[in-house]
Amino acid sequence: MADRILVFYGSYRSDRQGIRLARYLVRALQERGAAAELIDAKQVGLPILDRMYKEYPEGEAPGNLEQLAVKIREADGFLFVTGEYNWGMQPGLKNLTDHFLEEWYWRPAAIASYSAGRFSGVRAANAWHGTLSEMGMVVISSALAVGGIGQALDADANPVGDGGAALNRAFPRFADDLVWWIEAARNQRARMPPPY
Ligand SMILES: Cc1cc2nc3c(=O)[nH]c(=O)nc-3n(C[C@H](O)[C@H](O)[C@H](O)COP(=O)(O)O)c2cc1C
Repeated sequence: MADRILVFYGSYRSDRQGIRLARYLVRALQERGAAAELIDAKQVGLPILDRMYKEYPEGEAPGNLEQLAVKIREADGFLFVTGEYNWGMQPGLKNLTDHFLEEWYWRPAAIASYSAGRFSGVRAANAWHGTLSEMGMVVISSALAVGGIGQALDADANPVGDGGAALNRAFPRFADDLVWWIEAARNQRARMPPPY
């Protein structure tokens, strides 16, 4: 069965650029044979956190929360596409992730950061690393970092210029690492049920 990988992206801006990277990654994973799906926080449209998914009585969570919970539980791995706002995380994506906890457990996660400038959103990536670990994911050590996001991909999410070429060069090893850990986690879950 194809690896089920959810690709999360969380900018709510009208003129958002990172969506191109998210779409590129979904497509590139699909081309490798994975069942990759984009989870666009803006489209999911969760409100600022009131109740976590688990705080709703069974069957009473709002539809978008319930559907996302099912997808997260069924996924083999996660990819977080993270932009940087003032050296920190984008709040829309953080808000979405905070709605869940146990649903994330026992799977690997990868981080692909980006920004308009040359630092490629690495400060946000650093923040995400600890947060994803706290939420029970094993964060892989390979990271993708795309600077000059406005120039690296065109409107159809095709890589362009030097930035696009660098992305194309870096992607295979990054994906190999994520898929290796997906396989490892799947085998381990089958061999021994998670301890809690
Ligand atoms: C509120 C805000 C804060 C930003 N802060 C940073 C920053 O700290 N570091 C950085 O490299 N770029 C920063 N930028 C530029 C973003 O990297 C750039 O706008 C990027 O396209 C944002 O992602 P998005 O288009 O997917 O929303 C900031 C942009 C906004 C709107």
